[in-house]
Amino acid sequence: MSAALNKLTMVTCYDATFAKICADAECFDYLLVGDSLGMVISGESSTTKVGMKEILHHASAVARGLQSSKVLKKPTLVVDMPIHSYEDPDLALENAKLLVRAGADMVKVEGDVSDVVKKLRDYKIRVCGHIGLTPQSIQDYKVQGRSELEAERLLREAKNLEKAGVEILVLEMLPASLAKKITESIQIPTVGIGAGVECSGQVLVLYDLLGFNPDFKPKFLKTYLDGYSLIKIALQTYAADVQESRYPSDETSFK
Ligand code: KIV
Repeated sequence: MSAALNKLTMVTCYDATFAKICADAECFDYLLVGDSLGMVISGESSTTKVGMKEILHHASAVARGLQSSKVLKKPTLVVDMPIHSYEDPDLALENAKLLVRAGADMVKVEGDVSDVVKKLRDYKIRVCGHIGLTPQSIQDYKVQGRSELEAERLLREAKNLEKAGVEILVLEMLPASLAKKITESIQIPTVGIGAGVECSGQVLVLYDLLGFNPDFKPKFLKTYLDGYSLIKIALQTYAADVQESRYPSDETSFK
């Protein structure tokens, strides 16, 4: 259970079943319907194929899953604004309203889009920022902000976004020292992914931390389950039971 002094916890989530499990676990401050769903759910090579239709579908599913949990304190539901859905402040407002109607408590935008953030805040829509490796615009999956110039730009972006009104800020793939500097330079919490331990909290892609894809092993990732092997063994056991007439048994058949 996360207490006030503890680090913030966030995990991605894309469906109702996992949303209920995540809520019932009573350990997450935030669930994120990330556009990473384009990769882990739809098998695309980037997040850029995800549009409003897909994200709304998954946001509604996760919102229903959260509703079905009986725990008192549920995670805040953050939903990614897909690429092209916030190209100008008016378009952003129109789309953010749709996400809120689908169940989002907060929307997430990538990059220094302070004008968009200001517009959404004018309408009391809560916003999460995201800087560093922003997959909607950077497909080269490498650590950002290594040069002094880049680091200064990222620090400036963090301050701009804070001023514009973002409530929390995701820092993706930054040297730990830069993430620490950014975290110490702003008042809002930072949530790191591949950005070291000095962020105010951490986020991981659910399927990554559950070890569903043994081929995806970035340096920053820690897996907490060998999901791939465990699920494969369960499926093989089920199939063998069917093939060898062990399932259904008398107990699982209707008299
Ligand atoms: O889409 C996503 O899952 C994300 C997280 C990796 C922060 O943006």
